[in-house]
Amino acid sequence: MILKDKTILIMGIRNKWSIAYGAAKAASEQGAKLCFTFMGEDNRPKIEELISEFEGAKAYTCDASVDSDIENLYTKIKADYGKLDGIVHCIAHAFTEDLHNDFIETSKEGYTHAVDVSAYTMVAVARIAKDMDMLNENASLISLTYHGSTKVLPGYNVMGVAKAALECSVRYLADNLGPMGIRVNAVSAGPIKTLSAKGIKDFNSILDIVEEKAPLRRNVTKEQVGNTVAFMLSSMSDAITGQVVYADNGYNIMG
Ligand SMILES: NC(=O)c1ccc[n+]([C@@H]2O[C@H](COP(=O)([O-])OP(=O)(O)OC[C@H]3O[C@@H](n4cnc5c(N)ncnc54)[C@H](O)[C@@H]3O)[C@@H](O)[C@H]2O)c1
Repeated sequence: MILKDKTILIMGIRNKWSIAYGAAKAASEQGAKLCFTFMGEDNRPKIEELISEFEGAKAYTCDASVDSDIENLYTKIKADYGKLDGIVHCIAHAFTEDLHNDFIETSKEGYTHAVDVSAYTMVAVARIAKDMDMLNENASLISLTYHGSTKVLPGYNVMGVAKAALECSVRYLADNLGPMGIRVNAVSAGPIKTLSAKGIKDFNSILDIVEEKAPLRRNVTKEQVGNTVAFMLSSMSDAITGQVVYADNGYNIMG
């Protein structure tokens, strides 16, 4: 039970296919107490049913691109749970047309939106947590990223730019928060069929290529990525900060 007595906030749960759900399963199996964020109050009944298996878990709506939403979220969490030992940021968005057209067609608005929601929100989540004294010493902050940050992968387009900004932000955040004993890392997951992934053109062919070429000759599951997240949240990884840790069956090493 590597997360016993730890309170973890998981941001960006949508359904049982979400990587956030895989992370929640793994963290809960390791003894963590969980709370969640989701988008849209209309989705509350669905989300509450989804998280009912996690004892004592509460869910809060939060649009992470709005700073006051994050401030309200932390105020509620502090009252309900106290300080946090970890945050898992599973948030990303790009406009559909920017994933379907050639990258060169990306509008200024689409570029700004993707980077704002998918990268800057991690900075805001970390900064506001620090300013509101939400984090226990040894807290671990994790964001989810993808290999399209460093390699050109067909259809990933502006999300690749956003993930590059996210990974770089993780390094600077790790430097800023390290003196407080707080670690910041990214977990780079292999492709998984989620609602977000459905927005990427020819996603199924990406899965086929990974299965064919990854050293382990298979795709990852959200449970496997969740286990990596649980390890990165725990003190077992307490010498690791500012890193991008791949959970992709080794696909990223292949030429
Ligand atoms: N599925 C994959 O193949 C894959 C691979 C590597 C990394 N990732 C990353 O994992 C993370 C989770 O995505 P997923 O694949 O589980 O899909 P998902 O659709 O289940 O989760 C994405 C979440 O982002 C939330 N979101 C979007 N805009 C938001 C905003 N403004 N404020 C708060 N939340 C917002 C959505 O509500 C949703 O819950 C993302 O960062 C994604 O880029 C996914």
